[in-house]
Amino acid sequence: MFDFENLVRNRRSIRRFLPTPIPHELLSEALALAQFAPSNSNIQPWRLFLAEGDCIERLREALREEVQTNPRELAPLPPSFRSYRRELGAIVYGSMGIARDDDAGRAQASLRNYDFFGAPMVGILCMHKELGLTDAVGVGMYLQTLVLGLTARGIGTCVQAALTTYPEAIRRVLAIPEEQAILCGLSLGYADPDFPTNHLRVPKQPVENNVSIQGRPVLPAH
Ligand SMILES: Cc1cc2nc3c(=O)[nH]c(=O)nc-3n(C[C@H](O)[C@H](O)[C@H](O)COP(=O)(O)O)c2cc1C
Repeated sequence: MFDFENLVRNRRSIRRFLPTPIPHELLSEALALAQFAPSNSNIQPWRLFLAEGDCIERLREALREEVQTNPRELAPLPPSFRSYRRELGAIVYGSMGIARDDDAGRAQASLRNYDFFGAPMVGILCMHKELGLTDAVGVGMYLQTLVLGLTARGIGTCVQAALTTYPEAIRRVLAIPEEQAILCGLSLGYADPDFPTNHLRVPKQPVENNVSIQGRPVLPAH
């Protein structure tokens, strides 16, 4: 139990990777473990398209071209949630030495998403487009199981919604079928220990902000 606690508490998003390839045995173990995730009607709706070596380089090149010729903003959040992105930006970009009001610096740093933060491998996580929100929960459970399985093996990760900004280029390079909706990306590799942002502890809300328990007296925290 203690090991599991440590694993969950010590995982964090990695935003600069070493180029060291991921040993195939470790990757295979984590992928096999993640197959144990639960899902609605046991559909196991996750589809993961992984790229490394030549393929990840082609993907980088295609995204670089898209960013230059067809630049797009990240999908906006609903107004009442926008402050979260601003706050997170202040923390993450602040740790890179970029000031709160340095919009150009932030935009430049944000482009690192499309370089997968230097990772030797990236995955694109998909689900059949006819499935719905309940099935996306199963994909999320798979993703967290995979991420923790990788973390337990010393491999860092960053889940990336930013990779949904240019779905056409990603589909083309990875030959992702049209019926698969792209949910997010996952960069993976060994974390660069010398990059301060990789050591960030992003604040988490207290349980009562997210959970309400009805019908039992409130217990004192201990
Ligand atoms: C669905 C999802 C999408 C995310 N998209 C991005 C992204 O596009 N770029 C990025 O740098 N981090 C992204 N993240 C990482 C979050 O910013 C990060 O999980 C959050 O700030 C909490 O920090 P932690 O992972 O270090 O605990 C994403 C995480 C999730 C679960």
